[in-house]
Amino acid sequence: MQVVRTIAEMRTLRQQLDGAIGFVPTMGYLHRGHLALVERARSEDQFVIVSIYVNPLQFAAGEDLTAYPRDPNRDRELLRQENADIVFIPSDSEMYPTGFSTWVDVEHITERLEGASRPGHFRGVATVVAKLFNIVRPCRAYFGQKDAQQVLIIKRMVADLNMGIEIAVVPTVRESDGLALSSRNLYLSPEERRAAAVLFRALTLARELRADGKRDADTIRNQMKALIDKEPLARVDYVSVADARTLDELRTIDRTTLASLAVWIGKTRLIDNMSLE
Ligand code: PAJ
Repeated sequence: MQVVRTIAEMRTLRQQLDGAIGFVPTMGYLHRGHLALVERARSEDQFVIVSIYVNPLQFAAGEDLTAYPRDPNRDRELLRQENADIVFIPSDSEMYPTGFSTWVDVEHITERLEGASRPGHFRGVATVVAKLFNIVRPCRAYFGQKDAQQVLIIKRMVADLNMGIEIAVVPTVRESDGLALSSRNLYLSPEERRAAAVLFRALTLARELRADGKRDADTIRNQMKALIDKEPLARVDYVSVADARTLDELRTIDRTTLASLAVWIGKTRLIDNMSLE
């Protein structure tokens, strides 16, 4: 496995690769969720490239950029075990040299849910992913369903800007109590960790209500909120029952629907989602 730190070296290596290239962009501090993406790429592509870059553009002032967990040595070891071919670890000055002033702004779908709670977040995500795609030039790129809105935005960007990259979506990897794996779970105290299972319980409740034939979206949202409100350590940021393609909130469930939510557990903000099919 080669560790590459400059864009110039990444480009040189890329030119030498003859075959399907799978790419997994990450912010590091890898867990089984990230590794599921790498494994999927390993099974589908001839070469697997993983990037590790904590992108400052997608963190707003006051968010956890400086506190974001990092462990590059452990990450490298995990990726070696997964047989990744190249790990690309650029620096901030490599990615955003002085004078950097071009952004990728995907409209509409970025305004809801995470976009409403974290203004500017998706502009930062789309910009860095577009740059990484231009540097790595993969055939396929792998993203987790855990960040469902991110997937929709990246697909929109790839289609609108004719990037010609296939976007593969990998199911969310969960702990035994249903909590979706996330680097941010690290911030939870043991008590908060127990409380955090409420996200999965609320999503499961939504799916059960839907399976029972409930079609009124407000009923489902309200029951999800009521369940979360019963957990003293949890505070709802948003609960959504929306069109799975546009993320428009639904009044009546009459199409493919995604339930998603963001919940504060103490000082940690967690997100998750589930299809209501
Ligand atoms: P990061 O949070 O490190 O996640 C990298 C990839 O791993 C994303 O596609 C995310 O959806 C996926 N992932 C995270 N937890 C997962 C889980 N429990 N199950 C399955 N997949 C999971 O998402 C980002 O980084 C950044 O926004 C990035 C795309 C790298 C741009 O900076």
